[in-house]
Amino acid sequence: MSSIKVTGGVRLKGETRIQGSKNAALPVIAASLLNKGVTVLRNCPKILDVYHMINVLEELGCKASWEGNSLVIDTADVKSAKVSESSVRKMRSSILFLGALIGRCHEVSIAYPGGCSIGNRPIDFHLDSIRKMNVSLNEENGIINCQTDKITGTDIFLKFPSVGATQNIILAAVLAEGITRIYNAAREPEVQELCTYLEGAGARLKGKGTSFIEIEGVERLHDVEHTLSPDRIAAGTYMAAVAAAGGDAVLFDVPVHQAEAVIKVLEKTGCKIITGDRHVKISRSKRLLPYDLLKTKPYPGFPTDMQSQLMTVLSIADGKSTIVEEIFDSRFQNAEELRKMGADILLRNEKTAVITGVAKLKGAEVKARDLRAGAAMVIAGLAAEGETTVNDAVIIERGYEDICRDLGNLGANIHYCGDDAG
Ligand code: EPZ
Repeated sequence: MSSIKVTGGVRLKGETRIQGSKNAALPVIAASLLNKGVTVLRNCPKILDVYHMINVLEELGCKASWEGNSLVIDTADVKSAKVSESSVRKMRSSILFLGALIGRCHEVSIAYPGGCSIGNRPIDFHLDSIRKMNVSLNEENGIINCQTDKITGTDIFLKFPSVGATQNIILAAVLAEGITRIYNAAREPEVQELCTYLEGAGARLKGKGTSFIEIEGVERLHDVEHTLSPDRIAAGTYMAAVAAAGGDAVLFDVPVHQAEAVIKVLEKTGCKIITGDRHVKISRSKRLLPYDLLKTKPYPGFPTDMQSQLMTVLSIADGKSTIVEEIFDSRFQNAEELRKMGADILLRNEKTAVITGVAKLKGAEVKARDLRAGAAMVIAGLAAEGETTVNDAVIIERGYEDICRDLGNLGANIHYCGDDAG
């Protein structure tokens, strides 16, 4: 079991750069199957979820290799359309292979992704949409089998702007016959980035970044090179670290426009933030201010993936804040972990947390309950008095290349002490 040890009380100072985007990389890796050739993915983060997607590609018969920070994928030979149960169980985002394999092979056999600690995470929007595209689909003992002679473009109305469902529809529609129109599509930057990658490979799409996306099916795609955006959630996480610990830092390679909602909230808590084209200078000296009512929303609203980190920040603010989690049904796991450090958090119900700021958190032994909650506990350790150990920290490596390296660049007293630690 890997852990991260943090000694708090150090104001952060220095510069660090932001890795490539996890949530842009994963759908693009799945999408590479749609071209029978080579994809070069620059600025690809070396994180567990990316390694996992590569494993699935190799299981299917594809090849992948690294050239520095570029991932080179060759999908010329696909020998199977079966995504193993263990693969999907390990990572929910494997479900993005559903649309990609239907697009490439006109068939797919893939296990039902289980829920996870932030909710039961159904995939009904994905399946209902794919069925409408002339794909026959049945579910047997937790395995979804799809088959079609011809994918047919159609109009699809999403009840909720689901990121994954929007992406799966796009993946199935790119090589379909006819036009697919998605109404109430997700507007997240990661959906936009998938569209940009696919356009670079010869797909025909309109409306990326809006709630209405139109895809005109084409015969085939061609080789493409794509540079991934920096990770807006990693950027937000490190801004929240400076907010919580105090200090003065510069983050380079920040997708500033994509981080606007987070920047606005942190400014309201009293952080001073100066933004450039691709960098952010953030400082916090006085005690943090509370945030009256923070609601997570689909993009461009405040991202649910930053909710845990803001709970940590607000746990030491001078007053009462309320967070409403409107995206997932149980994403307040880290409240219990923060309480171990002296935080005062009341869960009014599954969706509403009331945080009464305390003057100081105290170092403790805590757990990483999920990827972002784990990062939030590292931030809590930075702000606390004394030493904090975040156990089960390997889950943090699913989305952060090296959180100890990045925060260490800002002067944090932080290191891994995993099984392999010396
Ligand atoms: C993506 O998950 C992200 N993952 C999540 O980031 C992010 O939290 C989420 O979008 C919301 O922004 C990746 O991009 C790999 P959704 P996704 O479909 O696609 C419900 C992280 O920490 N829903 O927009 O799974 C669902 O239960 C991860 O990086 C259905 O009910 O999110 C949830 O309540 C965590 N039926 C809501 O919609 C469906 O068929 C949003 O889910 C699909 C979703």
